[in-house]
Amino acid sequence: MREELTALRDEALHAIAKAKDLPSLEQVRVTFVGRAGRLTQLGEQMRHLPKEDRPEIGKLLHDVRTAVAASLDARTTQLQAEAEEAELSQVDPTLPGVAQATGSLHPLQFLQRRAVEIFRRMGFALAEGPEIETEWHCFDALNTPPDHPARNEQDTFYLPDGRLLRTHTSSVQIRAMEGQKPPVRIIAPGAAYRRDEVDATHLAQFTQMEGLYVDEGVTLADLKGTLEYFFRELFGSDTKVRFRPHFFPFTEPSYEIDVRAAALGGGERWLELAGCGMVDPAVFEQVNDRRGDRAFDPHKISGFAFGFGLERLAMILYGVPDIRMFVENDQRFLSQFMP
Ligand code: DAH
Repeated sequence: MREELTALRDEALHAIAKAKDLPSLEQVRVTFVGRAGRLTQLGEQMRHLPKEDRPEIGKLLHDVRTAVAASLDARTTQLQAEAEEAELSQVDPTLPGVAQATGSLHPLQFLQRRAVEIFRRMGFALAEGPEIETEWHCFDALNTPPDHPARNEQDTFYLPDGRLLRTHTSSVQIRAMEGQKPPVRIIAPGAAYRRDEVDATHLAQFTQMEGLYVDEGVTLADLKGTLEYFFRELFGSDTKVRFRPHFFPFTEPSYEIDVRAAALGGGERWLELAGCGMVDPAVFEQVNDRRGDRAFDPHKISGFAFGFGLERLAMILYGVPDIRMFVENDQRFLSQFMP
């Protein structure tokens, strides 16, 4: 039996060395040391041996098992390393990486953030109001009489319950004053809606930015300084800004703001960019009535308001020839505004 054991050991070690991959090594393990393997079977014959031979053969059997197990372990490690290396050799680390496409801000969002940032520096806080608005917030409270053309069914989207899609963000002025006492210093960017025929300069839904500053002793000089600063931050510090008298129902006096800039291939000219003015006392009184107090007493406080369209501003700043490009979702257009 001693010879059989050593022969079996040599045969096993030889087979282990010859196994060329992990599955064939597993086969070798099962054949020799598996539960029904040849070494196991040989071990079972121990009991037919004379008693005095058993310790010696038992020790030999143990040594053979240990040697075979150690050899299996060593070969497994070796084959695993070889398999890993073979796999890695398929990878070419000098190949260029796969680029991840990163998104970018929509140009209107980009401009809105810039505008908000400039006004925040001057102490304005962000405010918002609903896009579905009451007629009172959108028109009456803003001193706009029932026969005003903006209130016409041809100009405004009315809901069956009498509410409407706000035609301007000026309604947020009213919401802000309903909710807080002076001083009020807010900007409100957001959507506005009009029954406009869609063309290169009109959309039925567009974006506006509203501003309101109410406090004791606010003057036209504050209005002028604030908006000149804003437009010079946007267009450059030597930009010319002019205030041209105009009419809005909710401000008195009212102005349109023109900025001298080049637009859409043309040379430099005055571009009408915003409306503004000193808040009309009639607006304050509407708010006081609604609040049931005199928080906005026009004898004690004053304020200015302004509003402009973000699409128009973006078209001029970025040279966009057609307003519809902002809503077409064309990647070739949008990817040009990567910051
Ligand atoms: N709401 C006006 C519009 O949509 C813009 C505007 C003009 C807003 C004068 C104002 C303002 O706050 O004072 O055309």
